[in-house]
Amino acid sequence: FEVSWDADAADKGGWPSFMAKEVAEQPEAVANTIRGRIKDGAVVIPELDGLDDLFRGIDRVIITACGTASFAGMVGKYALEQWARVPVDVELAHEFRYRDPVIGAHTLVVSISQSGETMDTLMAVKYARERGARTLSICNTQGATIPRESDAVVYTHAGPEVAVASTKAFVAQITALLLLGLHMGRVRGSHTDGSGAVAELEALPAKISRVLAEEEARVAQLAGWMADTRSVLFLGRHVGYPIALEGALKLKEISYIHAEGFAAGELKHGPIALIEPGQPVFVLVPSPRHSALLHAKVVSNIQEIRARGARVIVIAEEGDAAVLPFADEVIRIPLAEAMFEPILAVVPLQIFAMALATAKGLDVDQPRNLAKSVTVE
Ligand code: G6P
Repeated sequence: FEVSWDADAADKGGWPSFMAKEVAEQPEAVANTIRGRIKDGAVVIPELDGLDDLFRGIDRVIITACGTASFAGMVGKYALEQWARVPVDVELAHEFRYRDPVIGAHTLVVSISQSGETMDTLMAVKYARERGARTLSICNTQGATIPRESDAVVYTHAGPEVAVASTKAFVAQITALLLLGLHMGRVRGSHTDGSGAVAELEALPAKISRVLAEEEARVAQLAGWMADTRSVLFLGRHVGYPIALEGALKLKEISYIHAEGFAAGELKHGPIALIEPGQPVFVLVPSPRHSALLHAKVVSNIQEIRARGARVIVIAEEGDAAVLPFADEVIRIPLAEAMFEPILAVVPLQIFAMALATAKGLDVDQPRNLAKSVTVE
């Protein structure tokens, strides 16, 4: 009698892929990123103790990263500018160091890396230090090279991520950036809690669980119907724009389908020419409670593409009825303040990419030509 077991299946904890497991772990990942960083109703990141003078003295932040981490960085720009009132630029690490950036002692360079080993990002951090900038890294891997080369580190504590396509590390990176923005806002005196941000943070894990519980099956079914699709477009605005880019990247990475993300406002400046009957377009609709104007503009984008025959899949908050007359499908996310919405809105897009890759019979965890961590330039 022989007991046989499959070590690989054991690691996946019963999930069909590491990606499926990691998508499901997102509520926990976000909770772990927040843990220990809220004190007396305010965000206090203990690792950043002693950096108050640095945060008060900087006049510029540059966020640098590659791939999915760079899209987390784009969400971070909105949060840092709103709460810490400091100008933020987001730059791909491999572009940043090959020009002559204007940086110095009053510049904080924030690098983001799940692995902490991405060579392009590491070289950008080294370059920033040589130029006299201060460096802070957001990283998921304890003791990795990038945090060791940085003045300070905020770990995301999302747990090991095995699938090449990043999911739980991404939502943890956004969470860490929100924490950083609130921490810096408090230190710089530009943001006081009481605005409900801490409550929004603490509510995130349960809201992600709701998206998984309520929308996963339907999104997966939708992906199954679309297995022959040759191209998918993603539109978003404000913090929905980086999520549109991330939705497109996930689809390219694991299902090898042509996908592009656009800022919804750019539609009329070019991308609308791509719309022909049957073209699937995901539209991330900003909450009307955040900005009635932005909401109306995105709803009007939906009308424009629908009139040209697009198949419109809308991601909108619960109760937003304005999207109903024009959408082919509506995926709902729970109500959240604008900065917190990306963490909810990305979840259906991850599920969509995963289900589509599965429907095409592809290896979700090990997509062709890609590596989990790119340690060469
Ligand atoms: C590779 C991975 C991507 C990842 C990027 C940055 O290209 O395939 O999924 O987003 O590297 O990785 P990092 O570890 O620096 O976050």
